[in-house]
Amino acid sequence: MSITKKVYNNKVEACAVVAQEIKSLIQANDAQNKKTVLGLATGSSPIELYKELVRLHKNEGLSFKNVVSFNLDEYYPMAKESEQSYHYFMHHHLFNHVDILPENVNIPSGTVAEGEVAKFCADYEAKIDSLGGIDIQILGIGRTGHIGFNEPGSSFESLTRMVELNKVTIQDAAGDFGGEDKVPTKAVTMGVASVFKAKKVVLFAWGAKKATIVKESLVNPISDQVPATYLQKHQDVTYVLDTEAASEL
Ligand code: F6R
Repeated sequence: MSITKKVYNNKVEACAVVAQEIKSLIQANDAQNKKTVLGLATGSSPIELYKELVRLHKNEGLSFKNVVSFNLDEYYPMAKESEQSYHYFMHHHLFNHVDILPENVNIPSGTVAEGEVAKFCADYEAKIDSLGGIDIQILGIGRTGHIGFNEPGSSFESLTRMVELNKVTIQDAAGDFGGEDKVPTKAVTMGVASVFKAKKVVLFAWGAKKATIVKESLVNPISDQVPATYLQKHQDVTYVLDTEAASEL
């Protein structure tokens, strides 16, 4: 399978195009009385997309009433109301500004008791399956080549589960938490196989610091050492890049 690459001058232009695709999909599904299932990421990469989706809701009447969302991951442990939580992030950037129904928002739990995590993850996976899978999965890519929090060593078959974060990922998150020692060492993440079930995958990468991992994920042999290389096997993946992130291709 070959991955489609689309390179834009900047992330604003890029996200405007992806937001239009999402709008078309939601409206086509609405017309058939079908729900649209979106797989969503946090971090800096999708912020412009969420801004544009909010604009389409406010200015162009795009409704999220028939959208069901599943987020990729959440730190563990992590209180929902904490500003570092992905729960907070999603509400702040998207959910508080559109008409998505609260019961249609799904985010891995950072608060479920440790003994209940496995059941929570199995239920999360089953809920995605029961809706017929994710229509469009939005991804960022970490410097380790992680997608979601599937760090190096994650298997192709991995499903939603509790994971240990990689050192590089912890270093990258240190700024948000006020120090490396304050970053949670664990997370609950959808697995590689969970992402693979999506009908379409869109991966965003912006800036020069992503250029090397973008290249490696596209050209290196598929390996658990760079989990994003697994995407080479998916039937519908588009890398949406700015010129800097595409500079090593
Ligand atoms: C976030 C996630 C991560 C990020 C990745 C890139 O939900 O699953 O894989 O997409 O760490 O982060 P940013 O976009 O901040 O560079």
